[in-house]
Amino acid sequence: MTTHKYSTLAVHAGQHPDPLTGAVNVPVYLSSTFELTGIGTDRGWDYSRAGNPTRDRLEEALAALEGGTSGHAFASGMAAIYALVATLRAGDHLICSHNVYGGTARLFNLIVRHYGIEVEYVNTGDLNAVDAAIKANTKLIHVETPTNPLMSLTDIAAISEIAHAKNVEVSVDNTFMSPALQSPLALGADIVMHSTTKFLNGHSDGLGGALIGSKPEHKERFLLVQKAAGGILSPFECFLVLRGIKTLPLRMKQHEENGRAVAEFLSSQKKLTRLAYPGLKSHPQHDLAVKQQRGFGSMLSFDLGSRDAAGRFLGAIKLFLNAESLGGVESLASHSATTTHFALTDEEREAIGITPGLVRLSVGIEDKEDLIADLEQALGAV
Ligand SMILES: Cc1ncc(COP(=O)(O)O)c(C=O)c1O
Repeated sequence: MTTHKYSTLAVHAGQHPDPLTGAVNVPVYLSSTFELTGIGTDRGWDYSRAGNPTRDRLEEALAALEGGTSGHAFASGMAAIYALVATLRAGDHLICSHNVYGGTARLFNLIVRHYGIEVEYVNTGDLNAVDAAIKANTKLIHVETPTNPLMSLTDIAAISEIAHAKNVEVSVDNTFMSPALQSPLALGADIVMHSTTKFLNGHSDGLGGALIGSKPEHKERFLLVQKAAGGILSPFECFLVLRGIKTLPLRMKQHEENGRAVAEFLSSQKKLTRLAYPGLKSHPQHDLAVKQQRGFGSMLSFDLGSRDAAGRFLGAIKLFLNAESLGGVESLASHSATTTHFALTDEEREAIGITPGLVRLSVGIEDKEDLIADLEQALGAV
């Protein structure tokens, strides 16, 4: 299946007909346990925490889409990041991109640090800073590119080269691009992470997360965490992600077209003090986006100058919904300081550029002219 082109993989990888019935959709195996064939023998499954036939299919699909050797589905994106760092030990050093989804920072700051794991935030867009930050006990560099919501990029190929020279692994949160628009493993990263809640599921109807490994030891490690810690994705939600994946290439084309159109419209608006969309030539890392991505996606953020102005804008949108999350078919707008980055202190938000007037858009697949008209009237209220 890996020799097929991307759109074919999206429909077929892991989604072959059910061997028992021929059902063309992967059945939802709602069984916590499986009949054994003897003492210590089974038909491939014994207990759903360790493995479930529906989850197996999703994990196969995810591995194929990212070009990895194994996929692992978790109950949420955060559960996947937790699993990623679960096998680090006290005394290990973890480097993380300095502006990441606030929930990732909350997990690292309020939980992972208490395990004696040293977490250091580095501007991973600055390769010299990354090189200088690596120490003898550095085990992992976790990169989010583009970042939520500031759309900062990290050169995945370059950072992987620097890390590998010092025997350090690189994991990439590929949530904003989806496997359709960016392939971190092909660029040299070791592990890919997703919040499947977003573009992979695509319909805002289920949380989920994933890790995709590139080496046999990743399979062993993440299977152990799934089995031992249990933060796995339920069979029904695996089915939802499998269904979403079939239309991922189509949806991403429309997200991309709409994202570009909205960014272009916003770039002429005088009320914005800052607009971050890697597809615009004005983005400082536009060339890197062209080099390592297959598109620019539909996530962008801009600053309206004050919390009041952001509030007026969010109160005036009609088609865009004022809601957290992203990557669904419907367009959403959110106030970053009080949603995705609420867990940070005022000082932490200021240090990374999450200003009170910052608004993030997840541009959906509706008609782009309707979306622009909605933004235009909402900006009129600012
Ligand atoms: C880039 C990124 N990574 C991880 C997560 C966490 O995913 P989840 O909400 O599925 O736990 C999010 C959620 O917004 C995100 O935007």
